[in-house]
Amino acid sequence: MIQSYAPGRAELLGNHTDYNEGLVLAIAVDRGVTLTGTVRGDDAIFLAAPDMGEACEGSVSKLAPEKEKTWANYLLGVMAQFQKRGLAFGGVDLRIESDLPPGAGLSSSAALETATAFFLKHAFHHAALTPLELAKIGQGAEHEYVGVKCGLLDQIASIFSKAGQATVIDCRTFEVRNAPLTAGVSFVIANSGVKHALVAGEYNERREACEEAARTLGIRALRDIDPAGLEKRAGELSPAALKRARHVVGENDRVAQATRLLEAGDMKAFGQLMFASHESSIVNFENSCPELDALVAAAKGVEGCYGARLSGGGFGGATINLVAAGREEALIAALEAAVPGTKCLVTKAADGARIL
Ligand code: GLA
Repeated sequence: MIQSYAPGRAELLGNHTDYNEGLVLAIAVDRGVTLTGTVRGDDAIFLAAPDMGEACEGSVSKLAPEKEKTWANYLLGVMAQFQKRGLAFGGVDLRIESDLPPGAGLSSSAALETATAFFLKHAFHHAALTPLELAKIGQGAEHEYVGVKCGLLDQIASIFSKAGQATVIDCRTFEVRNAPLTAGVSFVIANSGVKHALVAGEYNERREACEEAARTLGIRALRDIDPAGLEKRAGELSPAALKRARHVVGENDRVAQATRLLEAGDMKAFGQLMFASHESSIVNFENSCPELDALVAAAKGVEGCYGARLSGGGFGGATINLVAAGREEALIAALEAAVPGTKCLVTKAADGARIL
């Protein structure tokens, strides 16, 4: 029997920067997906999701996306990526257990992909597979079996994170660093439970708009221009493209500032950058919604809450709140009162994926 574990992630700063070859700050949360399984010796794939009361069957030689039990695509998609890379594997029995609420903005999907990739690497002895390649396998599953043209933030954060540290990702060079977080702070994730749009459609549309803006500016990616440079060339972009670009370029700048603030231990100033990030989501990227705005506004009024912003793709989902240890309950009460139906959880920065 083999068990693999992969945590969910929370994006601290750097919204929609990953596929623009930019900078992101993230953590792994202290909850995740555990896969328990055995190698069968034949071609069959059995996937069980007892929490959902569902199961799914397939075979290694006839891998295809599952139309009804779409949760299975996160695992099957990873298997397809192994095949694409010529990495041999055989039939497996796998059981999924998770204490990560799905749809809570914590990327339970990347956790499932990552746990699957770790399981297959270990069970079929692909020792040479690097952590970055495992992240790319998860991303490939998302692109080809799920249909979201995501960047690498979720998978990298789930794999490379360390307890008590923030993960600083350069999405051009894929250099990943862990930067210690000041003791005495907690993160509260507030899941609004709201989904306002067809998330994959909106997400992919935003990605195209960013790539279009970079093409118009004649640069490789929005990573290649800073806020002052963008304002000088503002007239070259359509009003909509300019707003999208302002968000991404501003986020890269905020991550660079925030990384220095982390080193200085200045969590108050760090939190201000989180509020600024959310404001930019509202004004520029238009990936927020009234419920997330109400959560961030409520957080601003709570003593000891340093910062709050939407985390992840947006269009509903969750906010992340940076709060002084001891002030979590007061914050949660304010958030749950501000948007009925909101579910909060407290997390520390945790270790990344591993074989148990
Ligand atoms: C989702 C995607 C990530 C990233 C974020 C926004 O979580 O999966 O790749 O683009 O949205 O920063």
